[in-house]
Amino acid sequence: MKIADNKNYYTDIWGCQMNERDLEIIENLLDEMGASKSTSMDDADIIILITCSVREKAENKVFTKLGELAKLKEDNPNLIIGVCGCMVQQKRVLKRIKHRFPQVDLVFGTYNLHRLPELLSKIIERKDNRVMEVWDEWDELGKERLESIGLNRKDYLKSKVIISYGCNNYCSYCIVPYVRGCERSRPPENLINEIRFLADKGCKEILLLGQNVNSYGKDLPGEMTFAALLEHVIKVEGIKRIRFMTSHPKDFSNSLIKVISESEKICNHIHLPVQSGSNKILEMMRRGYKREEYLKLVEKIKNSIPDASLTTDVIVGFPGETEDDFQDTLDLVKHVEFDSAYTFIYSTRTGTEAEKFDKQVEEKIKKQRLQNLMQLQNKISLRKNKELVGKELEIMIDQKRDVKNGKTSYMGRTDTNKIVAIEEFSENILGTFQEVKIIEAKTWSLKGRVV
Ligand code: SAH
Ligand code: SF4
Ligand code: F3S
Repeated sequence: MKIADNKNYYTDIWGCQMNERDLEIIENLLDEMGASKSTSMDDADIIILITCSVREKAENKVFTKLGELAKLKEDNPNLIIGVCGCMVQQKRVLKRIKHRFPQVDLVFGTYNLHRLPELLSKIIERKDNRVMEVWDEWDELGKERLESIGLNRKDYLKSKVIISYGCNNYCSYCIVPYVRGCERSRPPENLINEIRFLADKGCKEILLLGQNVNSYGKDLPGEMTFAALLEHVIKVEGIKRIRFMTSHPKDFSNSLIKVISESEKICNHIHLPVQSGSNKILEMMRRGYKREEYLKLVEKIKNSIPDASLTTDVIVGFPGETEDDFQDTLDLVKHVEFDSAYTFIYSTRTGTEAEKFDKQVEEKIKKQRLQNLMQLQNKISLRKNKELVGKELEIMIDQKRDVKNGKTSYMGRTDTNKIVAIEEFSENILGTFQEVKIIEAKTWSLKGRVV
């Protein structure tokens, strides 16, 4: 009998794809312990929250959730509540949970994922009431175990593969390097073995993940680069589409542009966070490029990969951002014509360099700037999507939606990462590639009919 047999677990998650990948590993470990995944909190014996600290809002949502869980625990005192992810890597948050959230039984950090079975066992066997383990780096065992425990996925069609952990860039606003540590590239052999394993299980699309995939390999012996890694990934049989994120503009090499443009398998979508269009702000952000360099890179990409879609992240209201700086951002967004953009209001993060910057922008102004930026970008997104109406595109069908009168509607994505809702279809086409005629365009998605 396994230690968590007969127990149901429920997970809740915030944050980026790194967390989504960690979630898969956590669920693998819980499955191995004998627990079963539940889709409702109400019948769960174990609830794990996988948290994000990139903005204050994300953290507040977790604290609110913990409040709700306290009530659930009153009704069910045996409920085990666990918190992990980026938030608990911060001493201030750890302290707050320790003293103000007694309902939390288990805390484990981003370097302690592999320790989940040991830590949870202590609680289940009642050796300890509360277990909190947050390390600042991996032990050798953790590194080794992470390479093997995470192989299985619940769904293989589209699989995420982390190529590097952490980040060395220390952009002045960002908490990620503090909670995820310095950049560590995984050895290429391990990556290729993992991708082969996934392909054997039916994976058609791989998403290579890193905070900055373009600096992959810099910490490895030899001459490994991201472009060279891609050359190896292309050769894995069965994989039809290769995606990657995030690309830091300062490390985007010509050889990378070349492999993307020459390979059918590498998707023509580049997520290239610009953050700001003002040189003054870019410098204060420590982004490592100027507006002109960014624009030149965009031009190079557009010339070499004409079909590429470009997406970005933008922060408004960084300390010291004047109306002129903001206009520079709008101007850049107009000029580049991104396919879509994630737009954020600057959020002060404790411990980062920008925390100490003065000239904080007023909340009201930040909100107004966000509105203006979103309005502009939405117009551009819609216009770009409308250009696709009437075109026939290859769509990978990756989601099955509701069934009506024996017919099912499906969702899929273009090579350029646009979401397409497919008109109802009677055959099961999940996991296949289909030629789809685009019949309608919205700001965030397209509608299409299988040809
Ligand atoms: N490594 C990636 C993404 C990191 S976090 C990159 O560099 O692009 C994702 C996005 O969150 C960032 O691109 C940035 O736009 C936003 N972000 C990070 N810290 C923030 C903060 N303190 N306030 C607001 N947005 C932030
Ligand atoms: Fe944060 Fe900058 Fe690293 Fe991205 S590159 S994770 S924004 S420090
Ligand atoms: Fe959030 Fe951590 Fe990702 S802070 S954005 S979950 S790396």
